[in-house]
This record gives sequence, structure tokens and C-alpha cells, in this order.
Amino acid sequence: MLTTVASSTTISCATVSAARIHQRRLVGAPAPTGAPVGGWSASSSVMGTPVTAACGGRSSTSLRSQRTSGGPSSGCAGDVGHRSGGCRAGSAAAARHLIEGSVRDGYADGVASTELPAVDPDEIDRILAEGATLPGSFYTDPRIATLEDEAVFRRTWQIVGVEPEVRRPGDFFTSHISGTNFSVPIVVTRADDGRLRAFVNVCRHRAHFVAVGCGHKKFLQCSYHGWTYKLDGSLNSVPRSDEGGLPPFDRLGLYDLPVDTWRGYVFVALQPAEPLSAAVTGLGTVLDDVGFDFPFAAENADPDFEYVRQVQPMSGPSNWKAMNENNIECYHCPTTHRHSFSDMYKVDPAHYLHREFDRGVYHTSDFQDRVAATLGLTERGGAPEYQFYYLWPNMYLQGGIELGFGGTVERLWPDGVDRWKGEIVSYALPSSREYDPDVIKQVEEWWRLTVEEDRDAAGRVQTGLKSGLYSWGYTLPESERNMRHFYRLVWEALAPSFRH
Ligand code: FES
Ligand SMILES: [Fe+2]
Repeated sequence: MLTTVASSTTISCATVSAARIHQRRLVGAPAPTGAPVGGWSASSSVMGTPVTAACGGRSSTSLRSQRTSGGPSSGCAGDVGHRSGGCRAGSAAAARHLIEGSVRDGYADGVASTELPAVDPDEIDRILAEGATLPGSFYTDPRIATLEDEAVFRRTWQIVGVEPEVRRPGDFFTSHISGTNFSVPIVVTRADDGRLRAFVNVCRHRAHFVAVGCGHKKFLQCSYHGWTYKLDGSLNSVPRSDEGGLPPFDRLGLYDLPVDTWRGYVFVALQPAEPLSAAVTGLGTVLDDVGFDFPFAAENADPDFEYVRQVQPMSGPSNWKAMNENNIECYHCPTTHRHSFSDMYKVDPAHYLHREFDRGVYHTSDFQDRVAATLGLTERGGAPEYQFYYLWPNMYLQGGIELGFGGTVERLWPDGVDRWKGEIVSYALPSSREYDPDVIKQVEEWWRLTVEEDRDAAGRVQTGLKSGLYSWGYTLPESERNMRHFYRLVWEALAPSFRH
């Protein structure tokens, strides 16, 4: 149970106070407010990992990325071929391997068979058509969580970083794709040939990571016994290999995964059900219509600015869907966030817009007038000052007035049937604007409260769901339209398994 919200313990960089505010808001907040992912943990012990500071691979004591003197003057020239969407041929082959459940050169797919609970798909169709929620058991039954692993989290593109992190040959960063019963470590690289690649970050020797954090290297060296790999994934060297006994090196490369980019964001998938371009079609239309900035797209990114990542882990005591549902509606804002998010933003139906698109939902609003005045926002009425976007199944972006603290990408994933984990990866932007420290302090407090309120509300919902006395509930057609859309997305993913 998270009892405290981010504080100085969440980030070790001394210069990060400004970014911390931004992260908080992302995190839990209001998502429903918008904030993307519900609460987060201020305690490293909750996540079982050390609190993460800026990427260790680069000297990054400052979150505000330093300009790289003499750095590359252009973006990732090798990207062009990957930016148009679609699974690359090599990636498709990797996906096929996973789907077929075969074993290739020592890598097993690890996909478990799924035992299904007794669910009448026609009954689910009926209650959803009537405006009901998903059944309570969908949030408490481990068999549903296992099914979601296979039907959702292994099958969808996951945002893992941004292109400016890997624009130079030798650049790399690490991430993962996780569900309730699996977690696949990933390393994304740009090799000398300029091509962006993603690999399972597991050494072909005895399964240690081959890369940690992010940075710039000629080779990836596993720190366990010292095997090295080129940035194209091929095995480069093995200490004492003259002893013999190993298969040829060309059979011991890292296992490649589908990777693709879209408007500056890097996505990886295990077994993508569709090309990335199809998954982001609706989101792209919405972002363009609302006026999203795309700060990491090649045409907007500063080629001389070093975009240093800072990872903030999060966790909470509810099923991932319960937390996500909190994130994507603001019906709760006037009551749950009476003295926090609702103090910051206009949350009445006349000002708080929330809409769905094919694979997600978004909502927008503006600062309360007195807050805007305090922030010195004199020209208003353009793009919404608060923008929150959710893309199925677990990605969040925010836009609008970022208070100068940079861009973020966020994800949420299940950690068992009744817990979730998440992370906010944030990057200071070159255009960041400074604000009055007293104003920032107030905003920080609003977000601290909002995050705490969201995370705790979702946790109490989970307790209610576990009572065994909640079959399903009903939602409002307008104020909770985003919820209804999310229920349909979940059911579309799971229903085929119950109809066979
Ligand atoms: S596990 Fe990587 S070198 Fe041994
Ligand atoms: Fe909220």
C-alpha cells in the first residue's frame, strides 16, 4: 500500500525538483484527471528496485539535458525506413517464432497455456450493451490475469522510449515488456549500419542482462562472465572461447524483437497482432486535432540537445484495469479531488472534454482562471492547457501547458491480479520554461494529493471487487463514456478466447 507520494526520495538528481512535479501529475493524477497512471510509490521497496534516477549510461546529474557539444547534427538517419509503420520482416519472423511456440537457438517462448474461467460471452455482450461495467471477477480471477498476459500484453505494441535517445550509432537503452506472469527485459540499440533494433536483453550464456540503463557503447558486455555483443545483436567475443565446446558464434546472437517508431516514440512488441501504424491511427488523428506538440519527432527534436531519460517507478494495490479506469475518467474529480486536481483544473462537464477514439480515449481541460493568472498565462483559448491521452492497452501521453518540465511517456502493467506497476519515463525538453518556485510548490502539492487520492481510491475499489458480492455495476452514458469504451476494448481482446 502506498502511503506517501513522491518526495525528494523518488529522484536522486539534485536538480530535478521541477521535473518531479511534472512526473507527479503524470502519474496518478488525475488522470482522470488526467494524470496518467495512478499513484506511484515513493518507496523503492515497493517496486523491489532502487529508485531510479536519470539514465546511468550518460553523465546525467542534471535532468535538464545538457546540450551536446559537437554532437551529431542530424537525427537518426537510419530511422527513415522504420518510421512508416508495419512490422519489419525480421521482426515478423521473431513474432512467428513466439506464436508457434518453438524453440530457436536456445530461446523458448515461455507462453503458458491458459485455463479459462466459466464466462458466458453472450451475457458479457448483453451487460456491456446496457452500460454495465465488466464483471467484478475480471479484476480478481488469476485466470483472467493470465489470459490478459497472452491476449493483451504479449500482443500489443509497448512504448519503451523516444528516438532522440538512440539517434547515434552506439546509442542504446533498456526497458521491458511485462504482464502478471512474465517480464521480458529489452535492449534497444542503433548499430553502425544506422538501423534501430530491439533484442531480448538476456545473455545467450546464462541469462544475465547484457545491458543496463542506457548510454553509448561500441559493444554490449554482459557483466556476469564478460561475453560481448555488437549493437546489431551478434555475439562478438567470449572469454576463454579457445576452450571450444560452444556452438558457432552466429548461432548465439541476441534474440531480436519487433521494433518500430512513430512520431519520435519507440515501440517494441513481443507478438504484435497488427502493425504499429494500425495501432496508432486513431491516436494520431486525435493528437493532430487537439494540437499535440510531438516534442521527440525528428522535425521538432533539437539535434544538439541530449534527451536524458529519468525513470520513475510506480505501483499500487489494485488490478491494472481499476487503476486505468481511474486514470481515464474525471467523473470522480469533483468529489475525490475536491482540494487537489479540481483546484487546478476546470472539471465541470462544460469545460472538461472527454472522448474516445478507436484504440483509446483522451480528455482535455484548462487551468482554473485564478491558477492561470498565477502562472502568468495571458493568452488563452488556443490548444487545451491540459491534455491527456490513453492508448490501448497501457500507454499515456500528456500535452498542453507542461509547466516547462518536459515530455513523458508512461505505462501501466499488471503485477498479479490485484496489484499494478508502472513507470514514467520523463525527458527535460530544450524549450522548458522556468516558473515561480512558489507556484511550482503549490502545483506540486496539488499533484501529490491527486496521486495519493487516485491510488487509494483504486485500492478501495479492489477491496470492493474482492468482496465476492459485486457482480457488476452501471455507468453513466456521457460522464463515463470513456469507461464504456475501455470495457469494450478489454472485451474485444478477451472475448475470442471464450467463443472458441
Ligand atoms: S551470463 Fe552473460 S556472460 Fe555469463
Ligand atoms: Fe483522479
